[in-house]
Amino acid sequence: MGCNIAIDGPAGAGKSTIAKKIAKEKHCIYVDTGAMYRAMGLYFLRNGISAGDERQISEKCGEADITISHVDGEQVVFLNGEDVGGFLRTEEVGNMASSISVYPEVRKKLVELQQRLAKQTDVVMDGRDIGTCVLPDADVKVYLTAGSGVRAKRRYEELAAKGEACDLEQIEKDIIERDRRDMNREISPLRQADDAVLVDSSDMSIDEVVERILSLCREKEHGRI
Ligand code: DC
Repeated sequence: MGCNIAIDGPAGAGKSTIAKKIAKEKHCIYVDTGAMYRAMGLYFLRNGISAGDERQISEKCGEADITISHVDGEQVVFLNGEDVGGFLRTEEVGNMASSISVYPEVRKKLVELQQRLAKQTDVVMDGRDIGTCVLPDADVKVYLTAGSGVRAKRRYEELAAKGEACDLEQIEKDIIERDRRDMNREISPLRQADDAVLVDSSDMSIDEVVERILSLCREKEHGRI
């Protein structure tokens, strides 16, 4: 069976960790669409363009050439030819990515790139609008979520492990604000697709979530969903 798996959900739900593992199991390519929005956000941060300046962002998003390649199954993101992987995972870039992702020009450009990638090969793709907009015909769709407190704690531990200064309360506030923005924007807001399966990972281990999704894939292969 072709393997096109869409995993959507709010920030910190564990999408990328889970999606990477599923991709390995299914011998698919993992596509992290959040990293593309982050690379675009980084471009505007570096150029001193504020998130509220829709005109400049719409005009200049064409100047940010974002490309993707895969090395040993890991996605590498290039911004105008530079590997920007090391700059994308900060809260500042994440918040900027969320803010600029409301603009139609930005979404159009990145959705086209994502759809092109999925046409070339089997993918496990994670993001906010994969099941609803980017890959409406995905074989398996999952809406992966967890409580905001759990998600904040996970993000805190991820940042602390990297030695980044962070404050748990502030992270939870940011997560709630990011959820609000991602769920309430006009174009392709974050929501569970009608045919997506809800997986709440609050009380599940990574392996349990992976197994749940692999079992959904098996059910799909046997025609049970
Ligand atoms: O998954 P992430 O935290 O790396 O995503 C960063 C932001 O990018 C997220 O808050 C909203 C935006 N985004 C989006 O609008 N659509 C996607 N498919 C993926 C991310």
